[in-house]
Amino acid sequence: MIIALDGPAASGKGTLARRLAAHFGLPHLDTGLLYRATARAVLDAGERLDDERRAVEAARGLALTDFDEARLRGAEMGEAASVVAAIPAVREALADMQRAFARRPGGAVLDGRDIGTVICPEATAKIFVTASPETRARRRALELAGRGEKIDYNEVLADIRKRDARDSGRSSAPLVAAADAVVLDTTALDVEGALAAALRIVGARAGD
Ligand code: CDP
Repeated sequence: MIIALDGPAASGKGTLARRLAAHFGLPHLDTGLLYRATARAVLDAGERLDDERRAVEAARGLALTDFDEARLRGAEMGEAASVVAAIPAVREALADMQRAFARRPGGAVLDGRDIGTVICPEATAKIFVTASPETRARRRALELAGRGEKIDYNEVLADIRKRDARDSGRSSAPLVAAADAVVLDTTALDVEGALAAALRIVGARAGD
């Protein structure tokens, strides 16, 4: 069984993906980390994020094991990731790794922006997780504050709106719900409520 979760920044898809993976005993891949790690490698090498050749080299050089989450989860790297993620050749370089992960025997849970549309169009269940920009900004501000980052709510909200526009507006694999995805709006849901709703969606799809 493959479960595909897509959605905008801080919509709750990562938490939901981890909980679903634990529930079904499936491996989980947070594909945002691939783009974050690519951006990190480009910056660590002192190169520009829009240098296509360097960014593709960095993407090809990644292994699923080299994710130092402490260096990747910050706000700065989310923004940097969305710049390299708009380069079609970077997406291409990261696609095989994601597809191989999804096609493990038994299946997997993947979360990102184009899992249901591009990486796993054959997924058993596709959920497009969303929430209002203000709710997402509040959640992200709490998360970043918890990580010790100095944050300003209005800056977080502006960052989220900018990233939404870049992710939705790019020509290569834009952020969009797959035609057969179920939209799950988590604005009024806590983690348990979102999990219960997601389990109902997966249960309905797996029984089809
Ligand atoms: O946690 P958050 O939703 O803020 O970000 P993320 O999922 O770690 O993704 C960071 C950035 O990587 C996004 O803004 C996208 O531009 C890009 N991304 C993508 O293009 N495709 C994916 N499958 C995953 C992430």
